[in-house]
Amino acid sequence: MLRAIYDWVDERLDITPIWRDVADHEVPEHVNPAHHFSAFIYCFGGLTFFVVLIQILSGMFLAMYYVPDIINANESVKYLQDEVAMGAIVRGMHHWGASVAIVMLFLHTMRVFFTGSYKNPRELNWVVGVLIFFVMLGLGLTGYLLPWDNKAYFATKVTIEIVNSVPFIGEYIGLLLQGGDIVGAQTIARFFAIHVFFLPAALLGLLGAHFIIIRRQGISGPL
Ligand code: HEM
Repeated sequence: MLRAIYDWVDERLDITPIWRDVADHEVPEHVNPAHHFSAFIYCFGGLTFFVVLIQILSGMFLAMYYVPDIINANESVKYLQDEVAMGAIVRGMHHWGASVAIVMLFLHTMRVFFTGSYKNPRELNWVVGVLIFFVMLGLGLTGYLLPWDNKAYFATKVTIEIVNSVPFIGEYIGLLLQGGDIVGAQTIARFFAIHVFFLPAALLGLLGAHFIIIRRQGISGPL
């Protein structure tokens, strides 16, 4: 049955070469742990991507219950956590996933650094990676405010004060983030929009660029 559907689509759209291009792609021996155990260090980019996918998926389910305003935010998270079937698991995945993502990202960056993979001709992908790094930190930071509990509120106050202390432009960016004189209704609306629309869109674009560049250049050579 599935085969018949596949063949029907393939006959019309010729989809086999598309997934074959990924499935048959060969990687060199020095990144294959079956040949050299130390090749496991090359897994961290893929693991980071895997965690990013978990974050996107669990985040989509959190968004079904989360209410981004100062009256309801905390209560909506509590309701999800305590009443909704599987709610605690989905929230837990997103909560712990955020930390695991940063750890994987760090390990991946260290791998790229210590194998010298940022060097010519891969400088551009290193720069794309640095942008990804800031986007990922931004996601962690804006997500932290959303439960609207004491920890979230005061962490955000401190963050905005740090931003404000940047010379020349700091106060403008701080105001842009805070959305007014205090950390309040506007701030949570902005952090929510940044967390679920702006930064994920930026991340997907950057990851697309990251992967296209890797595919064009191939993985860097052995040490
Ligand atoms: C969400 C974040 C990221 C994901 C999902 C990701 C994913 C990947 C993947 C799957 C590879 C293939 C090789 C490997 O897995 O080690 C790779 C390679 C690479 N990444 Fe990332 N990456 C991310 C962030 C970064 C960051 C923060 C940097 C540097 C600042 C970076 C720089 C590079 C470079 C230069 C390569 C080419 C390495 C080579 O050819 O040996 N990436 N990335």
